[in-house]
Amino acid sequence: MKIKILPEIISNKIAAGEVVERPSSVVKELVENALDAGSTQILIEVEKGGRSLIRVSDNGVGMSKDDALLSIERYATSKIFKDEDLFSISTFGFRGEALPSIASVSRFTLVTKEKNAQSGIEIRIEGGKIMSVNDKGSPDGTMITVKDLFVNTPARRKFMKSTDTEMGHIADTVASMALGRHDVYFRLLHNGKTVYNWLTVPDSAQRAEDVLGKETRNILYPLKFQSDNISISGWISSPSVKRSTGRGIYIFVNGRFVRDRVIQHALLEGYSARLIKGQFPFSVIFVNIPYNLVDVNVHPAKREVRFADQKKVHESVETAVKKSLDLLDPFRKTSGYFAQKQEVSKSFDVSEPPAFYKSDGKTSRSHPYPPPSVPYPPPKIPPDAQADLWEKKRFKDLRILGQLHGTYIISESDEGIVLIDQHAAHERILYEQLKIRPRGAIQHAVQKLLIPEIIETGYREAGVLEKLLPDFQKTGIEIEPFGGNAFAVKSVPAFLADKEVKAVIVEIMEKIIETGFAPGLQKASDEVTKLVACHGAIRANQQLSGREIRTLVDQLDDCEMPSHCPHGRPTWISFTIKELEKLFKRTG
Ligand SMILES: Nc1ncnc2c1ncn2[C@@H]1O[C@H](COP(=O)(O)OP(=O)(O)O)[C@@H](O)[C@H]1O
Ligand SMILES: [Mg+2]
Repeated sequence: MKIKILPEIISNKIAAGEVVERPSSVVKELVENALDAGSTQILIEVEKGGRSLIRVSDNGVGMSKDDALLSIERYATSKIFKDEDLFSISTFGFRGEALPSIASVSRFTLVTKEKNAQSGIEIRIEGGKIMSVNDKGSPDGTMITVKDLFVNTPARRKFMKSTDTEMGHIADTVASMALGRHDVYFRLLHNGKTVYNWLTVPDSAQRAEDVLGKETRNILYPLKFQSDNISISGWISSPSVKRSTGRGIYIFVNGRFVRDRVIQHALLEGYSARLIKGQFPFSVIFVNIPYNLVDVNVHPAKREVRFADQKKVHESVETAVKKSLDLLDPFRKTSGYFAQKQEVSKSFDVSEPPAFYKSDGKTSRSHPYPPPSVPYPPPKIPPDAQADLWEKKRFKDLRILGQLHGTYIISESDEGIVLIDQHAAHERILYEQLKIRPRGAIQHAVQKLLIPEIIETGYREAGVLEKLLPDFQKTGIEIEPFGGNAFAVKSVPAFLADKEVKAVIVEIMEKIIETGFAPGLQKASDEVTKLVACHGAIRANQQLSGREIRTLVDQLDDCEMPSHCPHGRPTWISFTIKELEKLFKRTG
């Protein structure tokens, strides 16, 4: 006989290899158990980044003596019983692997007591072997102590990084779990010093402020969306906030913190033109979906999930984000806005418009969080009053003061000063004209070239250009194949008439190939439109007449998304009188 069933101690150690990657994994599993046990207070004590000690104490339901002895057996769980349970998991844990795995690679002590029990019980395990089981006087709840992690797995022990690094992972882990449960008190200590002390608060926004920092107070805006059986809530940062990594993005699916590409992608798509590529927002997103439509059993540490209908989830998150941001844009289009307001009012509510929209003109922005006692949805207001409350800003109302360095338009609003980037603004205008209005309804004329311009391209470029001909056509650039890798340009939009059209097309092709081209992708088609708009737009360092400026500024009112150019840069910035007074130290 060569094949043997592994002794349990060894199989637990093997499981530990997957479940317990590093000290923060232990913290995660123990805190998840505490939450599953209904705790409202969780204390996490760590020494030396978790190498020498991790202790998690909770005030949850505790365990009876029998349950405690079972809990350290492999596959022992109180959370699932039947096959079907596996497809409707509402708890964090379900595999029954964590405790035996952790106990197999450390010096492990479990002390637990049920509420009405006479006394508690203490179980000590070393390297997977039970050393002692005793009755023990203890408070209600559970305390698990993990000493000398990886004591008997030298390879793992070597892989542990510096105390700072491991503690950093632990702090991140606790932060992500605390963001998901504002109703639980979390306290984290390292070497006896308090790292976090997060009291329970009435809503997730206040916890977000505790966890992400006070500076997020004025830049997080509510997300609220419901479609069929998917509900989305949480907080996203205003597009003015830019981070260079996605580390400020926290995603919870049915309360579970996960790294999910589908949702993260949808979030960024929701910002679309408002963020430049490579920039990330802050956000805390809660996606709630029926348990049977999401598989949580796809990753050993339960960090990932899989949705039955990814597309639906993607769409819902993207729409939620987009609508929330549209409402934030003070220059949003009236018709678009009201149409949208009606369309979304069934499912989407922002509890409190930031003060920027209110016509009192006093402050540019107020605390965006709803007061804790204001429930969603906000009180219904009669339509007229509502129009008034949400009175939008219009570019038409800006008083033009002049042009700065042939590049920026200076204007005055009731609240202060507004500077407009003429190139970015014109780019936005052309982009929307090209994109939204079908050809024929375009205001700008298309100009036929008397002698077609012949473009010779490389083999790869030719293949791509061929597939994009309909997209160029939509912008007014008519191109026909001319044999081999050659193409004939027959017409261009009037705004490109005095440009080197060959150079424009070649540059567009290069950019598209550089960003990776897949035929039929909406992205490539959109990129063509963006780049044509960019080439057609007035440049910086170009003097404009008063009339040209007025026309340009007024046209922004026709845009759906007037505040950002198609690449995500802002088209305007503003200073309120308040802000100016502050800068000039007129006020305190
Ligand atoms: N802090 C705790 N409070 C109460 N019960 C606990 C606690 N930790 C673990 N348990 C019990 O021990 C069982 C095994 O825990 P674990 O190995 O993490 O598996 P799982 O969480 O997947 O069920 C749990 O199902 C639960 O019944
Ligand atoms: Mg567990």
